[in-house]
Amino acid sequence: MLRFNQVFRYLTLTACLRSLLALTLTFLVSAPTLAQQAKIKVGMMLPYTGTFAPLGVAIENGFRLGLEEQGGRLGGREVEIVKVDDESDPAKATDNINRLVTRDKVDVVLGTVHSGVAAAMVRVTRESGTLQIIPNAGLAPVSGPLCAPNIFRSSFSNWQSGYAMGVEMAARNKVKKVITIAWQYAAGEESVKGFKDGYTKGGGQIAKELWLPFPTVDFQALLTEIAAAKPDATYAFFAGAGAAKFLKDYDQAGLRKTIPLIGPGFLTDGILEATGGAAEGVETTLHYGDGIETPKNKAFRLAYAKTFKLQPDTYAVAGYDSAYLLGAGMKAVAGDISKRKELIAAMEHASIDSPRGKWTMSRAHNPIQDHYLRKVIGMENRVTSVAVRQLDDDPAMIAACKMGR
Ligand code: PHB
Repeated sequence: MLRFNQVFRYLTLTACLRSLLALTLTFLVSAPTLAQQAKIKVGMMLPYTGTFAPLGVAIENGFRLGLEEQGGRLGGREVEIVKVDDESDPAKATDNINRLVTRDKVDVVLGTVHSGVAAAMVRVTRESGTLQIIPNAGLAPVSGPLCAPNIFRSSFSNWQSGYAMGVEMAARNKVKKVITIAWQYAAGEESVKGFKDGYTKGGGQIAKELWLPFPTVDFQALLTEIAAAKPDATYAFFAGAGAAKFLKDYDQAGLRKTIPLIGPGFLTDGILEATGGAAEGVETTLHYGDGIETPKNKAFRLAYAKTFKLQPDTYAVAGYDSAYLLGAGMKAVAGDISKRKELIAAMEHASIDSPRGKWTMSRAHNPIQDHYLRKVIGMENRVTSVAVRQLDDDPAMIAACKMGR
């Protein structure tokens, strides 16, 4: 009897073990690996306070909309968003990016708007290898000497829109000399350089360069200087709340109708409501604008307005495209972010159906894209023509990007 019990117990135990083994095998074969199951962590480092706060909000909104359209998942993985307000303050940037990379251990960083903050960010992500998508900051060296396989830009380089406006103005016989005015930091300097490259190559002359520290808005003395110099046009780089103030001051100084105001599209994007009509007639160049009559843009604008009760702008488009860029990479590796080479290759070759129109990623990881000429009409930055088709970056930056090769 005792022996029978022992044999019975032995048989039961073996059956149990066999079932357990079969179960484990089934799980290992069919279940996703842990890396694929866990949420992918996206660290958003954006300005939520200060002059660029509306830009940060638009980027986040755009990203969330793009994510939602992909079912809330990228490469099959749910997404957890961790946010840091970078305040557009370069002095706090290193601490802020380290919090995301070292403390929160994010898989991807999305950020940021301000080029000085972006400079500190790439110093860290180049070292850590963390995947980074820059949804705005146009800092030139990022797609030049500082380019890296893990760093992508879904927006523009500051040179691009400046150059497009330079080409446009050089083609206008009446515009022989221009004064530039900008915040004196990387973005302002690079935007003015782009304008100069396009404009002087076509025979234009820069009468004077005026500068203010970021993010100050004491424009009066400089506006008096512009009025006295009487250039054929004023090229200005400002953005966000600071740009709205500049447009109002330029108008109140009586200059809008006498000295045409031009600039990169950041001067008038996302802030027209705040100018109360003071920007009417201002011409700008940018890779996005109002009235792009594609089904994609129409659908995007409708969905954005419905979801956020706001009109989208260029910053919202960059956030939206960032979600699709990351989605393309994650899809190619079925959510396994450790497959770096495949992920990066897929992002390099991603074809994004963007509201701005077709764009491709350059070898230096910066968008090659059409630049539109736009004019403020009412509350719109209406596209009037294409200033430069499929514009790549500053040739000096393209040459300086080695990408580890
Ligand atoms: C930048 O710092 O690179 C920058 C900021 C705001 C813009 C455009 C560029 O609208």
